[in-house]
Amino acid sequence: MERVKVAVLGGSGYTAVELMKILLRHPGAEVAAVTSRQDEHVADLHPSLLGRLDLRCEPFDPDRLKAKGVRVAFGCLPHGTSMEAVPPLLDRGIRVIDLSADYRLRDPAVYREWYKEAHHDPANLARAVYGLPEVYGDRIATAELIANPGCYPQTAILGLAPLLANGLVEPAGIIVDSKSGVSGGGRTPKLPFHFPECNENFAAYSVGSHRHTPEIEQVLSDVAGRPVSVVFTPHLVPMDRGIFSTIYATPTRSVAEAELTELYRAYYAGKPFVRVRTTIPATKDTAGTNFLDVAVKVVRGGKVVVLAAEDNLVRGASGVAVQNFNRMFGFPETAGLL
Ligand SMILES: NC(=O)c1ccc[n+]([C@@H]2O[C@H](COP(=O)([O-])OP(=O)(O)OC[C@H]3O[C@@H](n4cnc5c(N)ncnc54)[C@H](OP(=O)(O)O)[C@@H]3O)[C@@H](O)[C@H]2O)c1
Repeated sequence: MERVKVAVLGGSGYTAVELMKILLRHPGAEVAAVTSRQDEHVADLHPSLLGRLDLRCEPFDPDRLKAKGVRVAFGCLPHGTSMEAVPPLLDRGIRVIDLSADYRLRDPAVYREWYKEAHHDPANLARAVYGLPEVYGDRIATAELIANPGCYPQTAILGLAPLLANGLVEPAGIIVDSKSGVSGGGRTPKLPFHFPECNENFAAYSVGSHRHTPEIEQVLSDVAGRPVSVVFTPHLVPMDRGIFSTIYATPTRSVAEAELTELYRAYYAGKPFVRVRTTIPATKDTAGTNFLDVAVKVVRGGKVVVLAAEDNLVRGASGVAVQNFNRMFGFPETAGLL
């Protein structure tokens, strides 16, 4: 079987290396090019790939990628940079799975409001499919441009989807309280992620203003069929990787925990990467995997509490990107991921 030639853009970063590790064990993918601003051998940037990938990074040149036979590019670039790279790739018939936030929000005015800059490629927003297979699965196979979902949003969306799809919780004012490990900030150095700043420290950040808020609301509103609003508060925890979200919602009628667990099991039946648990999820149970673990509880006073855990770099980014790749190129959904 001929392997699908793929390119990885932004080769020196954390999501890029995680992606390459997955692609190297994928039966149908060939990493044909890695682009970077750095003129380095990939294994010099990522010694964990030594002996596994004999490629030198190259500057981003869409014509060269096309000439190499690249059929899909995984964009592991920061937002803002990504929307410069995507149009010339699409123009050359190269499909794109973009891990940045650039194509996740449908409305460029909402992008401007939350990202504090104008969207440079509004024309391609309409072509983008939000790459969350458990929600938009039927649209992913034919997509030319996938807006790979954010790490935090996946815990909130998959944590709440069964409840909102069935009208079982109030759609306004849902509280999403999330914690992320430090790799969520990427490899590019930033002060809050500097070891003495974050080690032995625990704090919230971007309270009321985190950019994942409109993304969560956009998708959950699709799921619910009416507007959904959330209060989303992220925190940085001094661990390398993992996200844990605790979500509080008000039921629209009296519900029993066992009934909700059964509802989640039915909703995620046949969806191999969402594991519905009756025990409490934990980041270590999902570390390095593409699983998102979820449990739903009913507590005193009748409130519903949802607990969700995932690995931010695999399920939260590169793993779900490969799940999308599998759907786009006709591979089993789990190829390379189990
Ligand atoms: N970290 C996570 O948990 C996570 C989860 C979900 C989504 N994401 C998203 O995935 C994307 C990549 O994240 P990451 O964590 O891999 O970040 P990262 O480790 O900082 O890597 C991003 C890479 O992009 C390239 N780059 C940086 N600034 C650039 C610029 N101005 N122009 C061109 N290239 C530039 C660099 O690669 P070169 O030096 O090789 O050029 C850099 O290593 C981001 O959009 C992020 O929001 C991240």
